[in-house]
Order: sequence, then structure tokens, then C-alpha cells
Amino acid sequence: MAIKTVEWKNNSVRIIDQTKLPRELKFINCRDVKMLVSAIKKLKVRGAPALGVAAGFGVVLGAADIKNTVRALAASRPTAVNLFWALERMKKVAYRHKNLSVKDLKKVLLKEALKIQSEDKKTCRAMAGYGASLIKSGDTILTHCNAGALATADYGTALGVLYKAKSEGKKIKVYADETRPLLQGARLTVWELMRSGIDTTLICDNMAGSLMAQGKVKKVFVGADRIAANGDTANKIGTYPLAVLAKYHKIQFYVVAPVSTIDFNIKSGKHIPIECRHADEVKGFGTVKTAPANSKAWNPAFDVTPHNLITAIITEKGILHPSRLNAIAGRSG
Ligand code: MRU
Repeated sequence: MAIKTVEWKNNSVRIIDQTKLPRELKFINCRDVKMLVSAIKKLKVRGAPALGVAAGFGVVLGAADIKNTVRALAASRPTAVNLFWALERMKKVAYRHKNLSVKDLKKVLLKEALKIQSEDKKTCRAMAGYGASLIKSGDTILTHCNAGALATADYGTALGVLYKAKSEGKKIKVYADETRPLLQGARLTVWELMRSGIDTTLICDNMAGSLMAQGKVKKVFVGADRIAANGDTANKIGTYPLAVLAKYHKIQFYVVAPVSTIDFNIKSGKHIPIECRHADEVKGFGTVKTAPANSKAWNPAFDVTPHNLITAIITEKGILHPSRLNAIAGRSG
């Protein structure tokens, strides 16, 4: 699954414009911080680990004015903690080298940003190894949103587990939630999984209950944007109802995320900042309007799944019960 979602190329942050998928695989070069911040806000680049990598490169772009660069990037999206984690790392390097010329500072910052990118690759592989050990040949798996190559620097978190299981020769069938309102599941996950030859079936979000009731889902694997210290997990809106359904139907529900997605400063999910996006995203898609022009709409981008609905959290450090996250505190990277 060689997809270069975020890269440093020709003094720019080169990203896949994910709003164009699956119609078109288009790359754009963000040459300055303003352009990158706008791309993040519009979800041209998205997914928690990919946002961390993009933020790292963003600080290289804005090396001449670290304070304002970090401030602008930090204000782009509030929920995925990987973005803030990467900014903290970059800020520390910048302050340690504050006496360098901008040209030399850029070099050390780029080194750190590339390190964040290459660590994410290794992390994806480690999580996939642990996660695939939970999959048996013949399993049918449900996933939500996109936690794949398009959301990381490698082949993903939840989808990485599926790619690994396939590479081990396990026969799996995947159901992908379309993921209203911006259709990351339909547009991105189905595109990715089909490219890799995994048997994939798209469902509308409201079909998951019937699918489970018919015994067609064995396990659920999802990613995460921020995990509180007690294991409560914020992920794309629609994850929480899936977890409730999974509990009712006695289906295992797994969260796959790097340690950098765990926010040990936040005790429980009620403290996780949830991004609220524009009502127009719910009232239509692109230029197609589906609701009356002056209607009201509520558009939270994420929800919080309480830890007691999660079977286990799969990180690069191993498979953990949500109540046992403290065992790996301070061990990211
Ligand atoms: O709004 P998005 O598309 O950035 O939301 C992404 C998700 O919710 C993913 O599941 C999460 O970031 C994990 S990605 C490995």
C-alpha cells in the first residue's frame, strides 16, 4: 500500500488532496504555513497521525517565525492530539537551537520532522503486528471513517491491521461505514482497501445494527483522534453508536492507535475538545444541497466512546485493556 500521503518535497509539504478522492489522485504542494493550515482545515490532509506528520513539516515551512507558526497550526483542528504532540516536539527542537540562522534551523527542524514521519511508519507496522494476531481467517470486520494509509505516514492504524492480516494469508471480509457527513469511509477507505485487493463492502452508517443483528460482523476495528488517560476514546462521529451496538451484540470492539494519540493530561473523555464543523457539511455534499437552505444542522466531527465499551486498545507497545494505559505513560515514539 505505497501511498505517499504527506511528504517533504522541493521545500514544500506535498500532500494528497483527499477531498478529490476517489475521483482523482491529485497532489498539492503547500509552500507556506497559510496554505498548509487551510489544507488541514478543509481536510485535504486528515487523520490523526498524518496531521502530526504534516504539523512537523509545517514548522519547517515557518521556521522564520516559530511562535506564530505553531500558533497557526495549533488552531487548525482541535481534536487529534497527534498534531499538538508533534508541535511540542518541534517547538522543543526550535528552542534548543534558537541561536541558529533560519537556514540552519530549518535543517535541524527538517531532521526532526522526518524522524516523526519515519517513527510513524515503524509504529504502524508494530500496531499491525499486534492487531493481526487478533484476526482469524474467515473473520468479517467492520471499520469506520478512514484509519489507513491516507491517515498516516505508512499503511494505517486500523486498516494496517487488516493489511497485515491479509499479508499473513488470512481470508477477511471488510464492511466499511460510509461515514457521514464527509464520507471518509466511502471515498477513502473503500478506495484504499479495493486497491489492496481486500474484499470490501460499503454500508451506510445506519446499516451497522442490522448487519450485526444478522451475525455478519465478527470484530470492529477503528482508529482514534485522542484517547484520555482512562481509555475513553474520541474518534470520528459515529464511532460511539458502533461501540454500543457491538456491546449489545457481544462483538469485540478494538481501537488501534499509536501512543502519541494518548493524552495522559486528560483524565477522561469529557475533557476532550470536540471539533464542531460547519452546518453546510450536513446539509449537502459538495455543491449538491440535500436540506432546505435555511435549515439548522449540528455537526460535531468526533464522538467519545467510553472505555467500558472498548475490548482493547492496540498500540505499538502492545495490546492493552483501556484501564491499563498508565503502564505505557511517557513511552511514545
Ligand atoms: O476528520 P478526520 O477525517 O481527520 O477524522 C479521522 C478519524 O476520525 C480517524 O479515525 C482517526 O484520525 C484515526 S486515523 C489513523
